[in-house]
Amino acid sequence: MHKAPRGTLDILPEEQAYWRYIKQKIIHACQLYGYERIDTPAFEDTSLFNRSVGEGTDIVEKEMYTFEDKGKNKITLTPEGTASICRAYLEHGFHNLPQPVKLYYITSIFRYERPQAGRYRQHHQFGYEAIGDDDPALDAEVIDMAWQFLKSLNLDHLSLQLNSIGCKKCRPLYLSALKDYYMSNNQNLCPDCKNRLERNTLRLLDCKNPQCQQTANAAPKSSQYLCPQCDDHFKQLQRYLTILDLSFVVNHRLVRGLDYYTKTVFEIQPETEGAQSTLGGGGRYDDLIAELGGKPTPAIGFATGIERIILNLKKQNVSVPPLPKPQVFIAHIGNEARDFSIKIAAILRRNGIAVIVAGGSRSLKAQLRQANNFGSHHVIIIGEQEVKTDTVILRSMTTAQQRTIPINELPALLQ
Ligand code: HAM
Repeated sequence: MHKAPRGTLDILPEEQAYWRYIKQKIIHACQLYGYERIDTPAFEDTSLFNRSVGEGTDIVEKEMYTFEDKGKNKITLTPEGTASICRAYLEHGFHNLPQPVKLYYITSIFRYERPQAGRYRQHHQFGYEAIGDDDPALDAEVIDMAWQFLKSLNLDHLSLQLNSIGCKKCRPLYLSALKDYYMSNNQNLCPDCKNRLERNTLRLLDCKNPQCQQTANAAPKSSQYLCPQCDDHFKQLQRYLTILDLSFVVNHRLVRGLDYYTKTVFEIQPETEGAQSTLGGGGRYDDLIAELGGKPTPAIGFATGIERIILNLKKQNVSVPPLPKPQVFIAHIGNEARDFSIKIAAILRRNGIAVIVAGGSRSLKAQLRQANNFGSHHVIIIGEQEVKTDTVILRSMTTAQQRTIPINELPALLQ
């Protein structure tokens, strides 16, 4: 027996109501904040992610699905969405449009991770990027949209975590102070952190090992090393968030797992579970477009995992509207009635009425039970007599009342 690959999920019909609910809220939020949809390929040249996500990150080092295709091209299944959007921005000359260009996407993401609840090897992200503006008011708007979107789903008990990790001018100073601090605490570090100390010092701050967390709590804070511009940006952002009435926690250990971030980074987490089950995250990446070959172009964005949202909706017992089901069920008794039922179904569907026709030749009682299970409001019953007289019996499943209707009157009546 074949099984779905480890870390992947079939999205079954019973789950689809969640997906539709979330997608409708996505479309609404994007309309409110002025984002247009973009779809990019499921794979890109590997070099795009090496350059953007960064060579020293878990994603590039351990998690990418990379292969050589039959034309000897090195290809990677998208391990995140931002790099592809920047590539598309450059490729289609979007710098000629009024800035910022605001784009959103819903896409499959592939990461070879250790699967667990809320962590998969293929998941789906809703993300959005605002490219071409460095105003901290835009940071606040991007954060506001993330927050309002999650709230619009009826999710509660969320916490907004915020930090600034500076820019290429001020970060080296901070990194060197951080490295000195960790060197002098080397004996307290887990093997993973010892390993990362040289290559990706920032990531030591979000190690999940309890002892490393203690060490990280006392580490130098990036906000103390910001240059005047980054410092002002961070202060302005906090001022705008206050105007927007958004509560936030400045978390000095929030650094994010991708290398392209500058200045603002933020995450939205369920209050009780913290960083391990982050609902969404994002930040500024003012150098990325230039690194990919464009003119210096500031940008900021956010992404959230749809499977993780669904997990939280279920945990918080949020009920979502059920998907509409066909309201009319056709039951038939005898061969001629079965042929007639096919004709009636076609007439109704051509008139925009959704219909299910009973399969096989079960007893009327069994067919009515089936209609009940489908949640049908009306059952059309067809027997020998109805075939002869071009009529049907229409039964209301709520009142159990029945009446005979000529078929030419049926569509209008059901509409
Ligand atoms: P990220 O934090 O790597 O950011 O992923 C965004 C969200 O995707 C996470 O907060 C989480 O909800 C979900 N997610 C990540 N990995 C998994 C997984 N293995 N299984 C299920 N859900 C997962 C980014 O990808 C950035 N591109 C976000 C961004 C956009 N930054 C700027 N613009």
